[in-house]
Amino acid sequence: MGQTIRIGRYIAFIVCSIQLSLFSQFSHATSQPPQAAIASAHPIATTAGEEIISAGGNAFDAAVAISATLAVVEPYGSGIGGGGFWLLHRASDNKQVMIDGREQAPGKAHRDMYLDKQGNVIPGLSIDGPLAAGIPGEPAALVHIAKHYGRLSLSASLAPAIRAARDGFRVDEYYQRMAGFRQNALQASPAAATTLLNHGAVPQTGSLIRQPELAATLEAIAKQGHAGFYQGEVADKLVKAVQRHGGIWTRDDLRNYQVIEREPVTGQYGDYRITTAAPPSSGGIVLMTMLNILSAYRLETLSELQRMHVMIEAMRRAYRDRAEYLGDPDFVSIPVKRLIHPWYADGLRAGIRMDKATESSALAAVPVVPQQGRHTTHFSVLDREGNRVAATLSINYPFGSGFIAEGTGVLLNDEMDDFSSKPGTPNVYGLVGAEANAIAPGKRPLSSMTPTFVESEHGIAIIGTPGGSRIITMVLLALLDYVNQGDATHMVNLPRFHHQYLPDRVQVEPAGFSDSVLDGLTGLGHKLKQLDADYGNMHVVVWDKRNNRVTAASDQRGNGQARVFTGPE
Ligand code: DON
Repeated sequence: MGQTIRIGRYIAFIVCSIQLSLFSQFSHATSQPPQAAIASAHPIATTAGEEIISAGGNAFDAAVAISATLAVVEPYGSGIGGGGFWLLHRASDNKQVMIDGREQAPGKAHRDMYLDKQGNVIPGLSIDGPLAAGIPGEPAALVHIAKHYGRLSLSASLAPAIRAARDGFRVDEYYQRMAGFRQNALQASPAAATTLLNHGAVPQTGSLIRQPELAATLEAIAKQGHAGFYQGEVADKLVKAVQRHGGIWTRDDLRNYQVIEREPVTGQYGDYRITTAAPPSSGGIVLMTMLNILSAYRLETLSELQRMHVMIEAMRRAYRDRAEYLGDPDFVSIPVKRLIHPWYADGLRAGIRMDKATESSALAAVPVVPQQGRHTTHFSVLDREGNRVAATLSINYPFGSGFIAEGTGVLLNDEMDDFSSKPGTPNVYGLVGAEANAIAPGKRPLSSMTPTFVESEHGIAIIGTPGGSRIITMVLLALLDYVNQGDATHMVNLPRFHHQYLPDRVQVEPAGFSDSVLDGLTGLGHKLKQLDADYGNMHVVVWDKRNNRVTAASDQRGNGQARVFTGPE
């Protein structure tokens, strides 16, 4: 990507601590955006959202259409066999809510289910095939959003996805790369090998992927709502296929799945109000902890090296807490208020030295952490009423478990791998779990997905990205850029760096930073890991209220498309 940090951008970083409480209420309803906007990871999904808004739908209807279409055209990223978090803001009453459609462990799941008799993790068991799959939450979330927040019928909003599944979409190079990476898992599933591969081979670019069975399943959801997926014929087929191939789902698991409306994590960074993901995502808490630590630094007065140093130290400390405290809030008690309290951050900040990196091993010990790239997906939507959606959706690993349940077209997730299979043993991404994230029936695995709204009296940014544990630091970098007057394009294309406590390494994108800054970080004692490839796929919508302009941008690292359009008057 070859982009360097523009130092000037950062020189004007806003002094946050002294600006706290300059205003507390935003005049949400004073104006409405002049245009609508969508940024998503695939042009067909962006088009689907625009079609729905142009047909009189609101941002929530568009979110249903975009989610379902991404499930079809980006099967390596998310799907109705997976789950996600949809952060909503409703303009009419300023309601903010997070729709938790995260997968749930089946009733027969147990904490040692991926271990052999000696207690060692069996490689691949929580990654490939239906035993790796949690009970999907996305279908329930789409039904819920359409029913409680949308204006159009569910079947109207699902129509573009059904069309895309039936008529097909063209394979691009990214699809090919992902399919090559997961070819073995896909080949092991006869339905996946014929639908998503070409008789088991990676399909040519430009070839058409048609998914008629997925179209039929989406139609069943369109007609019957929740029951169309979680009961009746589709549910029977899902359970039979899963059990036939070694999985443990039951009909009750499906029938009992419910989305949960959760209060988002909120906080203040200077003049900016942050609304972000609640547990079972770790994202919002880790993001707020980092911002609280950073809020006492006059970032605009620091050199680029010093600024990166304090950001890395904030990341290190916030991710340490992630490992220790976070899991499904319905199963473990999480001290959310304490973790996002500014006074708590004061304590964490006290150990940061400007002249020297802290060794992660010098912090109180806990195990951690995942690393991932560009699968999973995010989109941002704003409509002309001011409704907005930030949604990050996942089936976890590229193409999830690789398993399609015969007769349904549904590619199942492998989100069970986001649990800690065994304390102290890393998962596929290096995650070493703590007790709070151990497997239990009905529990939702800890996530890093961080759909986020940032707002001040001057405007609103709708932010998010895939990228596993690196999601949260990507959102941090983009948020600080927004605060520093960065526009949507600049926010999504910033060079990225990341620290997650363990392993004790600063991951840096190739070509993003000058040698003198990298040498400076090494000189302070930071251990750098220069990455071979860039990471993330961020999609941002910004409504600038000062000039009443709406802009949107999709990460140049991906194939997404951002569009700003007028829609119906
Ligand atoms: O929920 C999570 O945190 C992960 N399942 C997300 C995976 C992800 O972002 C993959 N990356 N690109």
